[in-house]
Amino acid sequence: MGVEAYNIHNRTCYGLKGVENDSVDALVTDPPYGISFQNNDWDKNLPNSKIWVNSISVLKPGGFGLVFTSIKLMHRIMVQLEDSGFLIKDVLFWSFLNGMPKSRNLAIDIDKELGVESRMTGVFQYVQGYKKGGADSYKSDNIKFIYEPASKLGQRYKGAGISLKPAYEPIIMIQKPLEEGLSVAQNMIKYGTGALNIEETRIPYKKGEPKVGHNPHPKGRVPSNIIRTQEFDDGYDKFFLIRKVRQRKDKFNHHPTLKPVDLMEHLVKLVSFDDQTVLDPFMGSGSTGVAAVNCDRKFIGYEIDKSYYNIADTRLRKDKQINQAINY
Ligand SMILES: C[S@@+](CC[C@H](N)C(=O)[O-])C[C@H]1O[C@@H](n2cnc3c(N)ncnc32)[C@H](O)[C@@H]1O
Repeated sequence: MGVEAYNIHNRTCYGLKGVENDSVDALVTDPPYGISFQNNDWDKNLPNSKIWVNSISVLKPGGFGLVFTSIKLMHRIMVQLEDSGFLIKDVLFWSFLNGMPKSRNLAIDIDKELGVESRMTGVFQYVQGYKKGGADSYKSDNIKFIYEPASKLGQRYKGAGISLKPAYEPIIMIQKPLEEGLSVAQNMIKYGTGALNIEETRIPYKKGEPKVGHNPHPKGRVPSNIIRTQEFDDGYDKFFLIRKVRQRKDKFNHHPTLKPVDLMEHLVKLVSFDDQTVLDPFMGSGSTGVAAVNCDRKFIGYEIDKSYYNIADTRLRKDKQINQAINY
């Protein structure tokens, strides 16, 4: 099957029907995390590992892949990928500051367990940690009470919690092995794959920023394996800044886990070159596809859910310039 600008399919990705072996240059995908996000059925389990076997078959030798995953289950998916024949090359961190901590105040739980009434010591105005529904500013929703543990054991464990604030999503970088006996350069000459596209993904210097390093490249620094949504204020900036996008129920794209197009553009560019073909077996609302088309790559996508497929179809039909302007 030849690929026009894009080929998208409203069917299961298993088997990658219609895609020829050794025909795809790169894989960029955001599969189900297996964490039942917002109780979605499609996120109840990790994908079956046969999709990685299918993916390595259709990739050209030396082709790279980027696979989003969750912190808790990344080890499983890494084993699946390795068992399917991929080399694990790196793990990128997409870091953000607006993750919601899921911890709780254990000292108050201990009081409750012991039948001791915790002391109410004050009130505070609850400000939600993100701009709800695309609001321009953080909203102060309501007044909450501050409790102090009253039992002896509660006081001993004052401040104890159960988890950290999540601040990154891992993205596993994989590679199909080069053709046996070929060097990277020989593989590139034969297939156009085997190397990362550092040139197109350099981190530009800020205006007026002093160029550090022995031989600064005019386009900026080599891209790092950390991408973040907020600046780390360390004087000068070494990482990509890509903000999160929020699900907007009022907007036509209601996919609960949509990824920002500028993040996907960076990833697409990193593992492919102009005019090459990028595959996303779990395209959801098509963010990888929009990014691929914006970056002059061809795209093959699969989505099992009709309503998400329709969103991807609408987005991909839009004019490229409009897609570049709207980071939904
Ligand atoms: C994490 S979401 C992808 C979201 C996407 N990155 C976006 O920006 O919209 C994963 C998607 O995989 C789809 N999916 C799950 N199993 C599938 C299968 N067997 N074949 C194709 N798509 C599948 C789900 O319906 C879901 O939309």
